[in-house]
Order: sequence, then C-alpha cells, then structure tokens
Amino acid sequence: MKKNIVAGNWKMHKSLDEGLKLVSEIATLVKEAPVNEVEIIIVPPFIHLTALNKLLQDNDPIQLGAQNCNEHDSGAYTGEVSAAMLKSSGVVYVIIGHSERRAYFNESDELLAAKINQVLNNGLIPIFCCGEPLSVRESNSQEDFVFTQLTNSLFHLSKESFGKVVIAYEPIWAIGTGVTASAAQAQEMHKAIRNHLASHFGQEAAGNCSILYGGSCKPSNAKELFALNDVDGGLIGGASLNGTDFVDIIRSF
Ligand code: 13P
Repeated sequence: MKKNIVAGNWKMHKSLDEGLKLVSEIATLVKEAPVNEVEIIIVPPFIHLTALNKLLQDNDPIQLGAQNCNEHDSGAYTGEVSAAMLKSSGVVYVIIGHSERRAYFNESDELLAAKINQVLNNGLIPIFCCGEPLSVRESNSQEDFVFTQLTNSLFHLSKESFGKVVIAYEPIWAIGTGVTASAAQAQEMHKAIRNHLASHFGQEAAGNCSILYGGSCKPSNAKELFALNDVDGGLIGGASLNGTDFVDIIRSF
C-alpha cells in the first residue's frame, strides 16, 4: 500500500561527526513526540552509512537510504558501491536517477533501468527520480519528458516488482533554487505521472505507488504540498541538513 514518506537527501554534505549529531537530533525530536504514519528516511553519503546504521538500531522508525549504487553485481569497478554492499550495511532505500547524477555523471535512462534491477534484485527499494529542466517546462513539454524517463527506466518491470518502487518528481528548476513548484503544478504533474504508470501497470498498482515531491520543499510549504491528493511526501535536500527543519517537514502531514 501507498505510504507517506519523507526522505532527506544530504547529497555531498556533512562530516561523520556532523552526520552523527544530526541523526541523533532528529531521532530525539521524533522520540519526544512520535510521528504517525510517516516513513522517515535519511540518505547520507555512502561513507557514513555503517556508523549511522549502528546509531539508529534502537531508533526505529528512521530508515537508511543510499544516494546511488552501481549497476553490476560486483567486480573491478574502482570507486563504486554495489547494491549487495548497501544491503549488508543496513540500507533499505536507494535513490536512483537523481537529476544531479543524470547531469554530472551522464546517467542514461538505460543505465538507470539496470540500476533499478540491481536494487530490486537485492531486496532494496528504489526511489526513482524524474523531472524536467526549465527549458522543457517553458515549452510546456514536461509531461512527455517525464513520461519518457518513466517508460525507459521502469516499464520493463513486472507488476510485482513495480509494486516496490517509490517515485520522486523533482523538477530541476526547483532543486536548490528556493523556487518550489506551486501546489497546482505539483498536483498536475503527480496526477499525470500516476496516470502514466496506470496506463502500463494498471490503476491499482499506480494508486498504491508513493510519489514524492522534491525541489525546495521546506517547513513553510510542506503542509500545502503534502495535502495534495497525489503527493505522498517529499524528497528533501537543503532543509534535511537541519534537524528542526527536517522534523517540521515530517510533521507536516
Ligand atoms: P532541495 O530540497 O535542496 O531543493 O533539493 C531537492 C533534491 O534534490 C532532493 O533530492
């Protein structure tokens, strides 16, 4: 079934000490006033995963996510991290296809399809990112652009495998810019994404899929965004680096 999810993508921020401090703060705040019905995910750099996993063992419901993984099982791929390694480090979720990886590391839809397979084959949950650049939004072709990303990287999956996938719609023009999609823009795209998924996987599977919004989501706009019919939570960048802001967002449901 569809879950409410708030995931904090730290990107390349925080030393180990800073990361431990931030997660302790979040765990304490969440314990003080428990949050119901929201899956909380922390997505730190790879190198902090093991230490954070040790810290979090007694602090459910916070889950760990990774920002990427390699498309191969194992082998001579210097500098890379496999899905099996992530699993063995306590990771539950893996972000696949973030726009920064598509743009700076040339990740193609086909490569992302292979990464999705790796994540699912290792019993992990992919958070698949999609979203259009400003030029595409300005030419009003955002739906076609995002539908192609979804089709190329997800439509090879069985209905059962698709049932494990979480989607994050992150318009590139809203990431790190302070410009958030309006409630109308977010709802329109999330609904269109759900309809596109339904056209291939069926209404029920699409209805059960959590679709998160990402892009300058913060305490001041999270409530409005999370109240939308087809927005099931957020993938948070900048605001997840501050414990109080991140917990305020979690409490926006
Ligand atoms: P910001 O919240 O900093 O805009 O980043 C969003 C994002 O890219 C999360 O993956």
